[in-house]
Amino acid sequence: MKICTTIDEMRAAARAVRRADKRLGFVPTMGALHEGHLSLVRQARASCDVVAASIFVNPTQFGPTEDLAKYPRSFERDRELLEQEGVELLFAPSFEEMYPTAADGPWSELGEESVLSTAADRSVRPTLVTWVTVEELSGKLDGWSRPGHFRGVTTVVAKLFHIVEPDVAFFGQKDAAQLAIIRRMVRDLNLPVEIVSCPIVREPDGLAMSSRNAYLTAEQRPQTLALHRSLMRVNQLVSTGERNASQLAAAGRAEFATATGVHLDYFEIVNPDTLDPVEEISHGALVAVAAYVGKTRLIDNLLLPGSEKSRGM
Ligand code: PAJ
Repeated sequence: MKICTTIDEMRAAARAVRRADKRLGFVPTMGALHEGHLSLVRQARASCDVVAASIFVNPTQFGPTEDLAKYPRSFERDRELLEQEGVELLFAPSFEEMYPTAADGPWSELGEESVLSTAADRSVRPTLVTWVTVEELSGKLDGWSRPGHFRGVTTVVAKLFHIVEPDVAFFGQKDAAQLAIIRRMVRDLNLPVEIVSCPIVREPDGLAMSSRNAYLTAEQRPQTLALHRSLMRVNQLVSTGERNASQLAAAGRAEFATATGVHLDYFEIVNPDTLDPVEEISHGALVAVAAYVGKTRLIDNLLLPGSEKSRGM
């Protein structure tokens, strides 16, 4: 596996793949890899000639009071896992490499440090001039409780797409709002990349895998199951014929009324493309939940039948 730490290196390696007329698949990540990430890599491996992955803890998608400094970093382990999965190219740039124009701002604190040597105890966020924003959608669901988050995501993903120039990029259904927003960005900006979504990978008890699960204490771990339970409750009601979204959302929210140690952020039933609330579950819908377990913010969702069809997939 070739590790590229500069944009020039990555661009040259990716262009060589395209010149050889090979199909390049791309899996962007923030590292601290788990089976969810690896499922994306495997799907890329199965459908592309060459697979590129990236590891970059992107500061522009973290809010000022969020966990940028303590976000889990495990570069050596991640590198080994990606190598085992047959990834050919790994893009692991430093903060300065990705955001050089922000070097005069709070950025300069970073000095020579790169993400490989980790800036774990620092909390720096660049102030950019140029952003890629998917208006409207970026203020919904997680965008509502994490202002600026999706603007950071779309900006870094647009940059990564321009650097790697993949034929296909793989994203997890776990981050359903992120997926909808990236699809919309690709469509609106005519980016020449196909977006493939991959199913949510869960722990045996139902908890959706996430790098942030590493923050959970033994006491908090069972409390997290309220998220999955609330989605299963909605699923059960839908299977018995309930179609009214407010009734369904009320039943999902009710699971949190009795849950200890869990604070509900949102529980919404929305159109999976526009992220707008739906009234009736007639053509499928996205049931999305976010909750805090202690200080750890977890998200999960369920795509009800018909959603794939409604997106013309
Ligand atoms: P990160 O949280 O590292 O996730 C990288 C990719 O893995 C995303 O597409 C995410 O949806 C997917 N993923 C995470 N957990 C999953 C699970 N349990 N099952 C299936 N897929 C899962 O998402 C990001 O990073 C960043 O926002 C990024 C897109 C890299 C931009 O910085």
